[in-house]
Amino acid sequence: MTDEISAYGRSGPTDPTLKRVRTRHFRRAKEAGTKITGLTSYDCLSATIFDQAGIDFLLVGDSAANAVFGYDSTLPVTVEELLPLTSAVVRATRRALVVADMPFGSYESGPDEALHTAIRFMKQTGCHAVKMEGGVRTAKQIRRVVRAGIPVMAHIGFTPQSEHGLGGHIIQGRGEDGEAELLADAKAVEDAGAFAVVIEMTPSVVAERVSKELLIPTISVGAGPHCDGQLLVWTDWAGFTTGRVPKFVKRFATIGDTLRQAAEEFRAEVESGQYPGPEHEYSPSPAS
Ligand code: KIV
Repeated sequence: MTDEISAYGRSGPTDPTLKRVRTRHFRRAKEAGTKITGLTSYDCLSATIFDQAGIDFLLVGDSAANAVFGYDSTLPVTVEELLPLTSAVVRATRRALVVADMPFGSYESGPDEALHTAIRFMKQTGCHAVKMEGGVRTAKQIRRVVRAGIPVMAHIGFTPQSEHGLGGHIIQGRGEDGEAELLADAKAVEDAGAFAVVIEMTPSVVAERVSKELLIPTISVGAGPHCDGQLLVWTDWAGFTTGRVPKFVKRFATIGDTLRQAAEEFRAEVESGQYPGPEHEYSPSPAS
């Protein structure tokens, strides 16, 4: 979102003119053809770095279930677990728009439950928007939350909270029916008032068609280069996650290897007596 956001200051956190990215900038970025960038974040240290790097929005994703809490899916994570992570990310950012992911079980019952959860996130964390999974099936919830003045990012295509209903981690939007369903979901969330929609794991050509049909920006998570923005789970993107990552992830760093090597060096130096050295010791006299 470089061109659009430069007018709002992008020269670093000490720049007094630095302003917050707003939902209206998403629509303007789409109109101007400038790409939107997003990463997940679950803590203040990563959030500070991503904010300073000019990432447009940070999603405190329910992927924290795996990346922070060690669950094997996103289903178990709760509102109570995500609230403090979201607050930490909000406190660390000056410019990025912070989106709180509403976890499984916090909005499916209907618009009242969705609004209650969205208000908790907005009030208790200071986040700027919430995200809900589901297209046609979640449109009523989105409409109610948006009408209350809370911006909603929608999420369609592969929706991890319904992985069992979908039959596993399966590419969505394939075939004539799949494409029609994805388009119907996209139109439903736009119509309900979402300011942007995440499209996860669909063929690029299908996401391209959806992006052309919508006025709101589409954000790809494994939906190809034609969407209006790109979002990745930061621990996958930085090479922190151990094991397999999805095909669409590009590892932009090797944080896991760096940390493992540092831990091995630390252990070796402690065991050999090399660390701590004289430069790390305090002397008994305050003068030296
Ligand atoms: O929780 C998350 O990280 C997400 C993204 C994968 C879209 O929902």
